[in-house]
Amino acid sequence: MTKIALLTRDCGGVNAAIRAVVRTAVAQGLLVEGVLRGFEGLMNGEFVALDRRSVSNIIGLGGTILKTARADRFRAEEGQKAAVANLRARAIDGLIVIGGNGSLAGARTLAERHGFPVVGIPATIDNDVPGVESAIGADTAVNVALDAVDKLRDTATSLERIFVVEVMGRKCGWIAMQVALAGGCEEVLLPEKDVPVGALCEEIKQGRRQGKASWIIVVAEGRSSASDIASAVTAATGLETRIAVLGHIQRGGRPTAMDRILAARLGHAAVEALAEGRTGGLVHLDCGRVAFLPFGAAGDVKKTDIESDYHLLKVLS
Ligand code: F6P
Repeated sequence: MTKIALLTRDCGGVNAAIRAVVRTAVAQGLLVEGVLRGFEGLMNGEFVALDRRSVSNIIGLGGTILKTARADRFRAEEGQKAAVANLRARAIDGLIVIGGNGSLAGARTLAERHGFPVVGIPATIDNDVPGVESAIGADTAVNVALDAVDKLRDTATSLERIFVVEVMGRKCGWIAMQVALAGGCEEVLLPEKDVPVGALCEEIKQGRRQGKASWIIVVAEGRSSASDIASAVTAATGLETRIAVLGHIQRGGRPTAMDRILAARLGHAAVEALAEGRTGGLVHLDCGRVAFLPFGAAGDVKKTDIESDYHLLKVLS
């Protein structure tokens, strides 16, 4: 193996992972090319040479210095063949893909359908990669959202108001649950669990009768919108509500120490796996130790214990 490439999605810690991949590869005498704009750039042949200096001072930056894009064209055989042809034309021996379930599915396609050596690194704010406890970017996203919730708590308490905060997560409520637990929120509404809004409203009415003044309700975007929940609460309780939609703010920001260190470990491990010929899977931390997980080995959906976290939230709130 003499030359590797890497492509990325964006979230906190991805630049730290790029740095770890490049510096590990250079230390092993490998050449590295970055793919610009993710799978779209791979199909279009957009490559840039990376050396130790190209990744100086990026460890604390959010986003990805390689840029990224959605690439629907890659679903078709034609797009996949163009990507492989570009890799082979540049004499690239192996590819590292840093991203969430969509990117890792693309990585799996390259490995299984086209026989190209690929290693994945899980990086997604949703933290929903099957078999992976912590993806890069998840901790940063939760801390960004928590900072907002703490600030909203200040004004909610002062004005004795009900706030509904919408966080990211189309298919999974991981961010919502973490933020609700860490922020001491009163309720969390998730795509995975059916908490009837009627029951929430009854709880609020009862709480008000007992003198409770303010609430913070966290809703994952995949369950409902903050404005729909707020309208339903106002209609049922007659109480004033306010909303905050955090949106893409959660994908940006300075990565936390936890994400930077995870990125360092996984970036280093991915290069070692490629160099040792362990490909067709992703690297992750299993009980704190680097492990290799073949693509698909952990199924299609991440197993989580929503019920016990939800129980904890309700007992403590
Ligand atoms: O998969 C990560 C994620 O940030 C989701 O939480 C969110 O629903 C989605 O991506 C947003 O996608 P886009 O950036 O294309 O709007």
